[in-house]
Amino acid sequence: MNLQAIQSSGYEVVFGDASELLIDFLQKRNYSKIFFLVDTNTSEHCYPGIALNIAGDIPHDIIEIDNGEENKNIDICIGIWKMLLDFGADRKSLVINLGGGVVTDMGSFAAATYKRGIDFLQIPTTLLSQVDASVGGKTGIDVDAVKNMVGTFTNPQTVIIDPSFLLTLPKREIISGFAEIIKHGLIVDKEYFNAIKFIIFDDIDPLIIHRSVAIKNEVVTADPHEKNIRKKLNYGHTIGHAIESYSLQHDKNPLLHGEAIAIGMIAESYLSHKFADLQQEELNEICDFILSVYPSYKVDENSFDDLLAFMKNDKKNEDDKINFTLLNSIGTSTINYYCSEEEILESIKFYNNLIK
Ligand SMILES: NC(=O)c1ccc[n+]([C@@H]2O[C@H](COP(=O)([O-])OP(=O)(O)OC[C@H]3O[C@@H](n4cnc5c(N)ncnc54)[C@H](O)[C@@H]3O)[C@@H](O)[C@H]2O)c1
Ligand SMILES: [Zn+2]
Repeated sequence: MNLQAIQSSGYEVVFGDASELLIDFLQKRNYSKIFFLVDTNTSEHCYPGIALNIAGDIPHDIIEIDNGEENKNIDICIGIWKMLLDFGADRKSLVINLGGGVVTDMGSFAAATYKRGIDFLQIPTTLLSQVDASVGGKTGIDVDAVKNMVGTFTNPQTVIIDPSFLLTLPKREIISGFAEIIKHGLIVDKEYFNAIKFIIFDDIDPLIIHRSVAIKNEVVTADPHEKNIRKKLNYGHTIGHAIESYSLQHDKNPLLHGEAIAIGMIAESYLSHKFADLQQEELNEICDFILSVYPSYKVDENSFDDLLAFMKNDKKNEDDKINFTLLNSIGTSTINYYCSEEEILESIKFYNNLIK
């Protein structure tokens, strides 16, 4: 299937075979050196196919990091800078980030800051990174438990989306990434929300990925620095991020990002019903659908103080108030709602009561 390229701010998101698209891109450029950043898993599952196809044509070095969010930190980033230095990367070098959001976020941050910024290209290999981390220009690393604490807004030269990488991605990761797709439907496109109910997780329709990228792109190009409507993308994330951070610190098998966001979307739909016109039937529809996809996870009521502390710490807040995007209906949303601590906890209890 030939999917049209999506034009973002100064770069394109292209869809298709990664090797072909990469060769195509590099033929038009003249880089002094090329580096692939991979993690343990993309080194095994994604890099070999590309290496086979570009063998000999494109000399490059590989920088490999351990997989996992716990590695998206300054120590690993320093390691990447040092490797770039050791391999002789100069201002005319290119970093190709081949991996999930951890690799694309940290690789783009490393590139955006190395020698005051060198070019980088994104090849996202998880569903989440394809539909979300791929566009918008946010780069970053975590500091302790605070996600994306340090970063920049820097755009890649291009983004290559090859849905075939998803074939080796564990199903749990696919379903986690699907949460962002649900979010895209809920915030701006009811028809899309209805269509994605028929998704087949073992064989994701590339059209779904394309539509999600298009939605995210529309929003971020209208508001690149998150002054206004980009905040729509935070739907489900105010509460979801706090639950994710808490789970990372306390659970043996912590929630994945999308699993936490799914909970956040239910809680914030409850708030939407209470404060932003979301009708009861649509609230039920959202809850039923999300609960049919995601595992049952009860939020520990002992965590409530910590969750509120995480929410208050959220860098998206202004004037110490906890900021929400809420739904007016499925497919329409409004930014900048503020809810009290009691209301927020009530919404989490609402979610907990839905869990058997
Ligand atoms: N910049 C942005 O706008 C933005 C948006 C959303 C999320 N993010 C960031 O993205 C990160 C989460 O991304 P993620 O969910 O992709 O996590 P991830 O990068 O940790 O990838 C998840 C797991 O899948 C493995 N993997 C990746 N591709 C694979 C493949 N094709 N086959 C088999 N295994 C594969 C990885 O090694 C990892 O173990 C978070 O750090 C989040 O903050 C950034
Ligand atoms: Zn998210």
